[in-house]
Amino acid sequence: MPEYNVDIKMSYNEILVPTVDSIRMKYFTKLLVMNGKHALTPGPTGTGKSVNIAELLTYELPEEYQTLAITFSAQTSANQTQDYLDDKFEKRRKGVYGPPIGKKFVIFIDDLNMPKKEEYGAQPPLELLRQWMDYRGWYDRKDKEKPFKKIEDIIFIAAMGPPGGGRSVITQRLQRHFNIMTYTDLQDESIHTIFYTIINAFMYNFTNEIKTSLDSLCQMTLRVYNQVLYGPLKPTPNKSHYTFNLRDISRIFQGLCNANSKLCQMPVQLLRMWIHENKRVFGDRLIDNTDRDWLEGVLIEECKTTFGLEKKELFNSSRIIFGDYMQGIDVDTRIYQQIENLKDFVTKIEEYLEEYNSSVKNQMKLVMFLDACDHVSRIERVIRQPLGNALLLGVGGSGR
Ligand SMILES: Nc1ncnc2c1ncn2[C@@H]1O[C@H](COP(=O)(O)OP(=O)(O)O)[C@@H](O)[C@H]1O
Ligand SMILES: [Mg+2]
Repeated sequence: MPEYNVDIKMSYNEILVPTVDSIRMKYFTKLLVMNGKHALTPGPTGTGKSVNIAELLTYELPEEYQTLAITFSAQTSANQTQDYLDDKFEKRRKGVYGPPIGKKFVIFIDDLNMPKKEEYGAQPPLELLRQWMDYRGWYDRKDKEKPFKKIEDIIFIAAMGPPGGGRSVITQRLQRHFNIMTYTDLQDESIHTIFYTIINAFMYNFTNEIKTSLDSLCQMTLRVYNQVLYGPLKPTPNKSHYTFNLRDISRIFQGLCNANSKLCQMPVQLLRMWIHENKRVFGDRLIDNTDRDWLEGVLIEECKTTFGLEKKELFNSSRIIFGDYMQGIDVDTRIYQQIENLKDFVTKIEEYLEEYNSSVKNQMKLVMFLDACDHVSRIERVIRQPLGNALLLGVGGSGR
């Protein structure tokens, strides 16, 4: 493994820490591509398939390899796929098409097995690819005569998750054309390396107490993650969204990277934030108090065994809430900090509401109570992050 330094000016989601697994997979994928062989990389969600392949294709291939990326969905049709690709090809000779002379197209198909099966069990976009694999081309639908178009100098790389949840088993007739390399779930050491490297880089100017506790913090996070995965939070029909993967750990650390070096000097302050981020990432997805209490128990237990801190030291107010809006929205750098005084918190949100109401015609006459403010705060936390998307679930009238 090469030595790796995180560039903290990069946006969090662009940081990719090399691990033994990712280097190995990229090495073999590259070797295959450079020799004109097609590669298929199946593996569970959140194992880094998409990010590793994207990085390989963007930065690590010689210039003559150009990338076309398609992500398949359940609704992708064969015609859409063909039109998208046909658009990029140039005519070389009569009936022969391809990338500009001297170039090669590496076509990256993400989520290969997503397209819905049609009446007879085929996945039309996949059949199109198979036609190219078997006959090196497809028919020109736009021409009246429908002549056969030969297509040269293209190489396919595909990624897909295991069957289930909308993904199908793909046909052997397509599969046999690919070299298959499976991504396995990351080992705990790899996860530790990735996030320790990142958080350590972000907190380079924090106090020594904080810096020396980061290693334990990563291990605690991993233990919580494993308990969430293998403990009582299994997906069942009424909790079908209890699916957790590497992306969730990644979001916890994304949250922690917002810490402020002046306000976070002692481990206990860091741990409050850690509890908050865990509750946002894992806890906000839970549907009842039994599950939420279980999670809080796990978090408190971890803080106790690793740092010897009791619940009453950690919970300096009845709820731990972090946000970056307390100093107002116009300040230069907004500081993500704990809101210790819950009265001020509600007052602040009311102030924002008033400000909003004074500037628009359709006023919102809302009563802001603690739970409502808490929801506002959670939504704000998600959308301030790059690539942050929130989906609010609830019964009608719950105030979404
Ligand atoms: N080596 C790595 N360094 C940093 N983050 C990683 C690494 N590998 C995976 N991740 C993170 O894990 C998440 C899942 O990766 P992704 O490629 O989307 O998974 P997949 O396509 O296999 O479902 C991404 O958010 C990515 O940031
Ligand atoms: Mg993916």
